[in-house]
Amino acid sequence: MSLLPDIDRVLLGPGPSPTSPRVMRAMASPTVSPLDPLMLALLDDVRARLTRMFRAPEGSFAFAVSGTGTSGMETAVANLVKEGTRALAVVTGYFGDRLAQMCERYGATVTRLDVEWGRACDPAALRRALDRTPADLVAMVHAETSTGVLNPVDLMAPIARERGALTIVDAVTSFGGHPLDVGAWSIDACYSCTQKCLGAPSGLAPVVFGPRALERRVKCRSFYFDLQLLQDYWLNRKYHHTMSSTLVYALDEALAIVEEEGLEARWARHERNHRALIEDLKTIGLSVLPPEGERLWTLNAVRVPNTVNDPAVRKHLLDQFNIEIGAGLGPLAGQIWRVGLMGAGSAPRLIVLLIGALESALALQGNKVPAYEAQP
Ligand SMILES: Cc1ncc(COP(=O)(O)O)c(C=O)c1O
Repeated sequence: MSLLPDIDRVLLGPGPSPTSPRVMRAMASPTVSPLDPLMLALLDDVRARLTRMFRAPEGSFAFAVSGTGTSGMETAVANLVKEGTRALAVVTGYFGDRLAQMCERYGATVTRLDVEWGRACDPAALRRALDRTPADLVAMVHAETSTGVLNPVDLMAPIARERGALTIVDAVTSFGGHPLDVGAWSIDACYSCTQKCLGAPSGLAPVVFGPRALERRVKCRSFYFDLQLLQDYWLNRKYHHTMSSTLVYALDEALAIVEEEGLEARWARHERNHRALIEDLKTIGLSVLPPEGERLWTLNAVRVPNTVNDPAVRKHLLDQFNIEIGAGLGPLAGQIWRVGLMGAGSAPRLIVLLIGALESALALQGNKVPAYEAQP
């Protein structure tokens, strides 16, 4: 008996998002070894595409780490934090907290700027926090997947730069779905993942270090995530680890698809579909947690009405419609559903399917759905 899934789940949770069919086909290409010239040509191509997509300034190093988004986070932290580094972590949810924990593990003295879950960081609060407690490094999450909130990194990172601090930005849920400009926004190190807005399976983490970060790197305690050793592989062709050619094919193809669509057009698609979802949710009496202007286009934090049984709705969606949505995390457990419209998953047909499925789940639990109520 095979345990392999033989149905395509409709992946509308916090990730992974649906893998593009072209990416699936790319992964069927023959395996090559990490120093094969065919692989090295692909690595160069991935580097060039990532540099463009991050909008990284001259002298940056963009590449992909073997591992999921967390490996990107660890690569940034492990190469910029040492014992005694004064780090300010902006914590607007679960992943900001993870970033703070990781800085602490690598020896930083961490000051937290805690923001209410469901709200974005006010740049003025960051300025005040840095005035109170100067920092060598400021770590922040652009798209907080646990709350559906977009932080104004375009305003926050320059404040850190003004005060001489390096910035680490988590773009796991924004890269390819929201505007992001490493150069113009004064970001020093930024990382993402493959399984959200890029439309590839998880397993690689795009990362970029800008020139200031490259200059101020520390002696890395991790072997696997050591920037110098990784540069030796990517640039000087020295063996470091057996990087998966299959995942590199997937990433390169996903990046090619992004370039064909056009980055700005892709951002606009994510915005359009997010707005359509918000309007459609209203018709069935649902709303989202963050206020307008602080909402992610890629991950929607939909409030669970208190008349509704949260796990039963998610089970109904999965069992009857094959749709996955995410549960709330931490203090938002039971309070929100996390609906991702990312990459190939940001599509009108999937919104229509989801709204129909949610209507059916709510009606089953005896909830009145406004769109029906309006009918004679
Ligand atoms: C904002 C953010 N950062 C980091 C991560 C960790 O990524 P991964 O689960 O791919 O390791 C996630 C995962 O959802 C995330 O949403």
